[in-house]
Amino acid sequence: MDKTREISEYLGDVLVSKERIQEMVKDLGRRITEDYKGKKLILIGVLKGGFVFMADLVREIKIPIEMDFIAVSSYGSSTKTSGVVRLIKDIDVPLNDKHVIIVEDIIDSGLTLTYLKEMFSARNPLSLKICTAFDKPDRRKVELTAEYTGITIPDKYVVGYGLDYDGILRNLHDLYELDEKVYK
Ligand code: IMP
Ligand code: MG
Repeated sequence: MDKTREISEYLGDVLVSKERIQEMVKDLGRRITEDYKGKKLILIGVLKGGFVFMADLVREIKIPIEMDFIAVSSYGSSTKTSGVVRLIKDIDVPLNDKHVIIVEDIIDSGLTLTYLKEMFSARNPLSLKICTAFDKPDRRKVELTAEYTGITIPDKYVVGYGLDYDGILRNLHDLYELDEKVYK
């Protein structure tokens, strides 16, 4: 794919505005601050998609927290997940004395987070929850709900705010639909 065009040529409509996203992040930050007062909490961001949301979210949490990142890849580069998850980078701290929140950009089929939940559960954290910026419940292949969900969106392929198409378009403030002509 040609990755040198003007950004606007890849984009359809704005699905979620920057202002709405900021509001959502503040709200989740407030809830997490309230729920984890006096508790030892680590936020684990899922790279690469989760890095923008993670960076915003941690600054809306007003208690001391640790943070770390893992990297996963779900084979296949375009608009469909293959369902096979591969761990590329793990965290390097034990979890058995901590409450854990996994921070993701979006839940689609639910396969990535099902895999990660199982992996982290096996390390016996004090508790384990999921926080996602966006959710596409219509596309679920396995039953999975996040305890902290930002914004529920329809079954559309979206880019921006950390979410990519073939590695590009993560660096946008708003969440956009990908223009159909890009992948059709
Ligand atoms: P899963 O299908 O729930 O396992 O989601 C796997 C991953 O696919 C997510 O973490 C995202 O990185 C990516 N993904 C799912 N839907 C979209 C989308 O609409 N745009 C960009 N990436 C997506
Ligand atoms: Mg991705």
